[in-house]
Amino acid sequence: MKEKIEAVLAEIESLACKSESEIEEARVRLLGKKGEITRLFDEFRTVASDQKREFGQKLNQLKNAAVAKIAQMRDSLQENNVSGTSEDLSKPGDPFRLGSRHPVSIVREEIVEIFRKFGYDVAEGPEIEDDWHVFEALNFPPEHPARDMQDTFFISSGANSILLRTHTSSVQVRAMEKLPLPIRIVCPGRVFRNEAISARAHCIFHQVEGLYIDKNVTFADLKQAILLFVREMFGADARIRLRPSYFPFTEPSAEVDVSCNICHGKGCNICKGTGWLEIMGCGMVDPNVLEASGIDSKVYSGFAFGMGIERIAMLKWQVKDLRNYFENDLRFLREFETSI
Ligand code: PHE
Repeated sequence: MKEKIEAVLAEIESLACKSESEIEEARVRLLGKKGEITRLFDEFRTVASDQKREFGQKLNQLKNAAVAKIAQMRDSLQENNVSGTSEDLSKPGDPFRLGSRHPVSIVREEIVEIFRKFGYDVAEGPEIEDDWHVFEALNFPPEHPARDMQDTFFISSGANSILLRTHTSSVQVRAMEKLPLPIRIVCPGRVFRNEAISARAHCIFHQVEGLYIDKNVTFADLKQAILLFVREMFGADARIRLRPSYFPFTEPSAEVDVSCNICHGKGCNICKGTGWLEIMGCGMVDPNVLEASGIDSKVYSGFAFGMGIERIAMLKWQVKDLRNYFENDLRFLREFETSI
């Protein structure tokens, strides 16, 4: 008990509160209902009767010291404020400016989170890939234009050349080779294409691709999955439209448009007067692709889809120039501070 009293006394002596709120905090800590001194008074009841006199005195001194110290700190705080010799120390400090997440990260997280709710796992793979995983296993005929030097950054040429992946479908191949069936994954990641940089194209961008393989998966399942995703992403009244398209790895294939969330279908300059915005490619996984990864295409079927994250972010925030996403101009990035 003696040590405790001395410790609290030392604490009182060293108190140097700089604001009314700090003083109040110290008062509660020492003299409040559960304060240190109040607790010592409770403990006093257990002190042996021959020591009660000594400790009683000590405790009363301690309490008086605390009351006096608090009054003294209040007085000097007021004096400072009145005389104006010192700043108002009770004013809040300068806030630290918080960093913000990059818009691409925000949208990527949002897309992945939606699919996570639908039961999809996240799969990731290497950015430096081989020809097999980016093209060959995905049923790209040898003469397909996407293999052309125009689109792909090659690191080495020859059989099974090494290259920078042009889409994250390569991760889907790796998943089909490795994971047990059924498979339900989304593959977010950075991709590379040898394109001239402009407001609408960049040599680096990000995708989220999805893959679902099980028995009896149909095109209706694909359409439903995309519709549910679009409603989560763009609002409950969003509609979709599928246009026939071509990808080597899906058959049939489609391009997905979402109803323009800016003019709601009336036609504006974002949707170029059509009322629709293109957001992704999709289709039923080509049986050749399943077989290339060792999956029996007579038993299993599946669908795949892929979208550009920057594209979705552009639609979400109406950013007109893709280059904004890569230049790290703080004026642009700070626009997203509230979206953390
Ligand atoms: N891999 C395609 C692309 O990068 C997108 C896609 C994925 C299309 C899956 C259909 C199915 O453009």
